[in-house]
Amino acid sequence: MARLDDDRLALDLLIRGFQISRVIRLVADLGIADRVSPDAASSVAELARASGVLSEPLLRVMRVLAAFEIFRLDTDGRVTHTPRSLLLRTDLPNSLHYGARFWTGTGSWRAWEALDVALDGKVPHEVAWGTNRFAYLRSNPDEARIFDAFMVNFPDNRHSAIAAAYDFSKTRLIADIGGGNGETLRRILAAFPETRGLVFDRADVVAAIPPEARADGRITTQAGSFFDGVPAGSDLYLLVRVLHDWPDEDASRILRSCRANMRTDARLLVVEGLIDPDPSRGPPTEYLIDMQMMAMFGKARERTEDEFRELLRNAGFDLTGVIATTSSVSILEAAPRSNGSW
Ligand SMILES: C[S@@+](CC[C@H](N)C(=O)[O-])C[C@H]1O[C@@H](n2cnc3c(N)ncnc32)[C@H](O)[C@@H]1O
Repeated sequence: MARLDDDRLALDLLIRGFQISRVIRLVADLGIADRVSPDAASSVAELARASGVLSEPLLRVMRVLAAFEIFRLDTDGRVTHTPRSLLLRTDLPNSLHYGARFWTGTGSWRAWEALDVALDGKVPHEVAWGTNRFAYLRSNPDEARIFDAFMVNFPDNRHSAIAAAYDFSKTRLIADIGGGNGETLRRILAAFPETRGLVFDRADVVAAIPPEARADGRITTQAGSFFDGVPAGSDLYLLVRVLHDWPDEDASRILRSCRANMRTDARLLVVEGLIDPDPSRGPPTEYLIDMQMMAMFGKARERTEDEFRELLRNAGFDLTGVIATTSSVSILEAAPRSNGSW
């Protein structure tokens, strides 16, 4: 049989990408990567028994994954790890387990199915579910906690990169606004022992942060909505991958809310991927994140540096620096403008 030429094969696999990601979620939901020891084989029959599923369909699932080098499967039905399947184990830092469960998780999956409506100005998630994304997460706590864990383990590894790229040593108190389950603060506080942190997020999110994740009491939490206000009195405010969830009008309200509660000597760090208008230069994953924003939030989007400068300016901030990190995110440092009208 004639071999497919490379472009044809590559495009065919991209077209069927959802089939692969859906099967990866299936094994991630069953915790198969944790059930297979890193250095010994397990039989499909054992894995099926331990997972409470049938052996024959699981064998077919393992076979397609092995065809993509995610696990190795021998003809006797014995499964061992490959470098790719090891990345799905939850005992590794930055495990891809959570992404595997998140991207095709039910809430996201059905919103993507409705993607077309974004082209008519509607919000796919709202058309699919009749409610906005964060309200959906509040009513679906299992998916919400996967989302929080996915943020902690996001493949961009942004939390460590932020801690390494900025000097927090003079900062006494950092408020992480929309801080999720607090991973950014944990990484910063591990590197800067004099600093304390406050996670501000929705009530169900902060309630799920366990005591052992609060850096021996150096991290406190406060529940609320940034549309109603943010805690006053911190030296530094963080907005990490928050503004990209919102269209310009809402992003502007969040920034104004921060501005209204900040001293003029306090600083704001907006941490986001800066999208390159030329897609041949930017990382492809940034454009996928932009599509995720479209599917979940309609007009919410990734932005360029100039677009952030403008958003900040309109909300009473001057952009004072742009700091690249080892991750795909950059740190935009902003200072409140004391004499401007905003
Ligand atoms: C994309 S996540 C980023 C989480 C975290 N900053 C990180 O980088 O890992 C956006 C966060 O905004 C929070 N959020 C959404 N709406 C909010 C609101 N009205 N007030 C406060 N936080 C909100 C979400 O719960 C979520 O934790």
